[in-house]
This record gives sequence, structure tokens and C-alpha cells, in this order.
Amino acid sequence: MDQDLIVQKFNGAYIADERTFVMGIHHGFTAHISGRFAGQRILETCTGGGFTTMALARAGAHVTTVEIDPGHQDQAKQNVASAGLSGRVTFVLGDILDSRILAAIPPIDGAFIDPDWAVGGPDHRYRFRNSNTRPPADKLLNHILNKTSNAAIILPPLIDVRELGGLPPHEREALYLGGNHELYCLYFGNLMRSADETEFRISTRGQTGA
Ligand SMILES: C[S@@+](CC[C@H](N)C(=O)[O-])C[C@H]1O[C@@H](n2cnc3c(N)ncnc32)[C@H](O)[C@@H]1O
Repeated sequence: MDQDLIVQKFNGAYIADERTFVMGIHHGFTAHISGRFAGQRILETCTGGGFTTMALARAGAHVTTVEIDPGHQDQAKQNVASAGLSGRVTFVLGDILDSRILAAIPPIDGAFIDPDWAVGGPDHRYRFRNSNTRPPADKLLNHILNKTSNAAIILPPLIDVRELGGLPPHEREALYLGGNHELYCLYFGNLMRSADETEFRISTRGQTGA
């Protein structure tokens, strides 16, 4: 991976491969979202290369993060260590949909959810209901909301927001980078500021503003 691109996206000389680079969330977004979790004991699913883990660990009291892919987890461990944050993160290797994994998670105040949306092939279409993500976004959100009502989930910008009808009250924040709508973040419970549509923008010059 091109180190300049890694530094630009993640604000540090971290380790990433093509997959963890693409999946990783821009540091301006992770810092912004993590602000909602200030002082909290956080469950994160899923870890990827640990780019959101680091921001959550800086803002929160502790992060327990679950990842199914040992290679991704290994990268995340190295990145968290190089950021000096290992003491604030517990890594769990396994399937977050396995009820034994969720039952073993220590008490938490809130959860951050970022499933893998990079689904390819002829069937490729972003959808929330009967989701084709890994793990399925709708199933994963329900699973986590059974453990805590304070949750945030990342969704792609091409989702049909009508599919979100029927979810518990939430704030739907559109995240923009240089004028491009990159992601949605849905906030539930005490992470929600208002049950409304909001937006957060990062300019191409790196300045941020809500
Ligand atoms: C979008 S990435 C997370 C990126 C991360 N937020 C970041 O900023 O670096 C999603 C991760 O979910 C992992 N994953 C997929 N299915 C999983 C499951 N059932 N349990 C735990 N992790 C899973 C994938 O291996 C991938 O690393």
C-alpha cells in the first residue's frame, strides 16, 4: 500500500492492505463519531485494520473489539500498539453473531458497528433489509440492540433510506468528504442528538464542520 495514501486517510503511518485500507474509515469521520462515545466502555464490531478502534480508544474509557479475520485483527493489533493505545483495547477473535462471543463481552455503555459492505458480483446492490453484507447489517444491528440501546452503525450512501423504516428512533447523519457523500452513521439511544437527519462535512482542505 502507498504510505502517503495511508497517512492521508488515517493520519498516521499505519499498516493496511488493499481490503483494510478501503474498509477503513477516514480519520476525520472516526474522530467525529468517537466524540459521541466520550468516556464510555465501548463494544466495536467489526475491527478491520483498527482505524476506528484507535479513535474510539482515544475518546472512550475502553474498547472491546470483535473481528472474525485473524489477518485483519493482526494488522489492527499492530496499529493500536503503534498508536500507544494497546492498554485501552481488548481484541476478541470470532463471529460477533455467535451468542457465546457476545455473552463473554464485559459490561459496555455503547456499541459501534461497521459491517463489511464490499460485497461484489452480479447480485451487488446495497441493501439494509436481508442485507448481503458481512455480517448482515440488519441482523447485526438487532443483535447488538439486544445488548445495548446505545449504538451507532455505518451504512453506505447508496442505501435506500426507506428500508430504515421500522427501526427504533435514531439520528441519520450523512458524512461528506470534499463534497462527496461517503457514508451514513445512524445513532440510537443516548448517542442520538435528535431523531432527525443531520450532516457532518470534511472539506478537501481538511477542515471539519458539522
Ligand atoms: C468495514 S470493516 C471495519 C473497518 C473499521 N471500522 C475501520 O475503520 O478500520 C468490517 C470488518 O468486519 C469483519 N467481519 C465480517 N464478518 C464478521 C463477523 N461475523 N464477526 C466479526 N467481524 C466480522 C471483516 O473481516 C472486516 O474486517
